[in-house]
Amino acid sequence: MSSAAQKPPTGSAAIRGRLVWFDADPAEASEEDAVRFIEDGIVLVEDGVIRAVGEAPAMLRQLSPGTPVADHRPHLVMPGFIDPHLHMPQTQVIASYGTELMEWLAKYTFPEESRYGDPAVAEAASRFLLDTLAANGTTTAAVYCTSHPESVSAFFTEAERRNLRMVAGKVMMDRNAPETLCDTPQGGYDQSKALIAEWHGRGRLEYAITPRFAPTSTEAQLEATAALAREHPDLPIQTHLSENHSEIAFVAEAFPWSKDYTDVYDRYGLVRPRALFGHCIHLSAREHEALAAGGATAVFCPTSNLFLGSGLFDRATVRGAGISVGIATDIGGGTSYSMLTTAAEGYKVLALLGQKLPAFEAFHMMTAGNARAMGIADRVGRIAPGLEADLVVLDSRATAPLRRRMERVETLAEELFALMVLGDERTTVATYAAGRRVYDRASATRRPLAAKADSAPLTSPRQPGGADQ
Ligand code: GUN
Ligand code: ZN
Repeated sequence: MSSAAQKPPTGSAAIRGRLVWFDADPAEASEEDAVRFIEDGIVLVEDGVIRAVGEAPAMLRQLSPGTPVADHRPHLVMPGFIDPHLHMPQTQVIASYGTELMEWLAKYTFPEESRYGDPAVAEAASRFLLDTLAANGTTTAAVYCTSHPESVSAFFTEAERRNLRMVAGKVMMDRNAPETLCDTPQGGYDQSKALIAEWHGRGRLEYAITPRFAPTSTEAQLEATAALAREHPDLPIQTHLSENHSEIAFVAEAFPWSKDYTDVYDRYGLVRPRALFGHCIHLSAREHEALAAGGATAVFCPTSNLFLGSGLFDRATVRGAGISVGIATDIGGGTSYSMLTTAAEGYKVLALLGQKLPAFEAFHMMTAGNARAMGIADRVGRIAPGLEADLVVLDSRATAPLRRRMERVETLAEELFALMVLGDERTTVATYAAGRRVYDRASATRRPLAAKADSAPLTSPRQPGGADQ
């Protein structure tokens, strides 16, 4: 790929396959109103945007002569996956042993994030992250960078080069962390303002106001964050809420005037549409009411919640309270870049609570549902004329276990469920961003190993003495 920003592809192209998308939430609407499936369909893309979609025979008659057709039959073609919560600087924190949230932050995460003032470190991580998301069929994400503005510039530069729809922000944190990571109320405000001016609305990029979480911000910093939110009422906001019992106790002590954890964010005007609250596991009924009243979203991060032992997200109660729910990887507390694996782990978390996650609801959440939560449903998340052509092509028979299972599958719902439970990066055949192929399984598997290795030398990891793992 050249170092210049990718221009949106010009001209027309057609993508053919078994098309699936969701025009409504299957949890709220009938299957007939929600689920769209065309066994042999074509998506016509012009200048990176979907111009038309329909049955292949009719679409083929309409195509201008010479329009190239990428024929992906018998694979599924869906809207690209959307991941509404992950951390760019945690690709080398993922799979760190033996701690729960607060100790994990202090022992692994903060030291690692301290390296990201170096643009070269942030650039390498951003490249790795975006390559890996594409390989997993994820075309949009809401991304935490670090408190260093350089980390945000590096991420946006790389996302712009690939012409991706991405949301990201500089973490604001001014206490309870190493000095190298702490900003100040004024500094965090000024840096956020400068990044908003430089990046928000540029190409397909949006800036998210990003206070890390209440324990790492002083009241003065939350005041500054409130000002940012007031001055930019349409911007996304991202933070963490009610993930872990020690975290909740910490917040109660640090903000003695607050009714509860949610009240802290509410006090500073952060509970509003397009606000993404990661985790939301241990909320009270009052907090549910406050989140619903504000029109905010609770983001379910199942692999992270299991890995850090944080708890089980009660989707039925949260949804029942009228709160919008997204689902996300939370790399690197989370342990998989795959939204399929994330949904499968979500299914298991909910099973422990006696709840269900049907495949149609899960795939809706990963696409149109997450787009709606992020306030970008008019841009991505479905296959419809006028939306940007972000698509993933999935192979339901990618592995021996899937091929074996598929011999008994009779319905689309069963196929999608098998794909979600057994699928991962290997099931991605191709990923398109604004109509351009940003991942192709055939060429990825043909690439020699040496070209794939990023910068890692082939040496043994340091041997710890008497490690407990
Ligand atoms: N709470 C505050 N920061 C973080 C983080 O980086 N990961 C998770 N899982 N929770 C957090
Ligand atoms: Zn997180």
